[in-house]
Amino acid sequence: MNPQNEKSPLTLALPKGRLFDQAREFFAERNLTFKFEKRKLIAHDETGLLKIFLVKNADLPTYVNHGIAGLGICGGDVLYEAGIRFFKLMKFEFGKTSMCLAARKGYERPDSIRSVNVATKFPRFARDYFYSKGVPIQLIKLNGSVELAPILGLAPYIVDLVETGSTLKAHNLEVIDTLVDIDVHLIANPSYYKLNYRRINRFLELLREKPDNTVAKE
Ligand code: PRP
Repeated sequence: MNPQNEKSPLTLALPKGRLFDQAREFFAERNLTFKFEKRKLIAHDETGLLKIFLVKNADLPTYVNHGIAGLGICGGDVLYEAGIRFFKLMKFEFGKTSMCLAARKGYERPDSIRSVNVATKFPRFARDYFYSKGVPIQLIKLNGSVELAPILGLAPYIVDLVETGSTLKAHNLEVIDTLVDIDVHLIANPSYYKLNYRRINRFLELLREKPDNTVAKE
């Protein structure tokens, strides 16, 4: 990985989905605007500072780990599941969620006597949580719509992200326990950061500058 020319754009991976809209709004407030043409997955911001790749949330760490994108915006949930270490340069105020154990209303936390089925998109979180409690589990890995599992009888328990709680509520489910609060981070490939730190630090200053000139939290 070579140091980039001062004029070449910084490469940034953004995740598809609801984080994308929040990230785009955050950038727009700092006069960094960009538009993905129909079906296109690569865009440049209008100032020429950034070359942006639109990737699947769970694939984002892979792109940054391989240095395809030097920087990325990624939730702590995806980072933990990926098990890859990055430099975390900044924590955002948007996109905060919680990783939760949930079940149908009235269900208690499972005891350690019998093995229980747990459906999740986040096997590492689920495994670590239940192992720490000494509860044997059978993991059922899903890729989305996890709230369906207790409703359809696939598994009584789920480990999933809760943001507003409206998806749980709509399915008559409730949180039994909160595993951990999840934040969204600006991450960097460590080599990329070392080779481009001056430009990245200038970029960070821009991001930290709030529209009302107060300073964003580290
Ligand atoms: C996430 C999460 C929950 C939902 C929670 O799913 O897995 O299903 O959001 O949000 P809420 O508490 O605001 O209702 P996402 O929308 O990413 O889609 P998915 O179910 O297909 O993974």
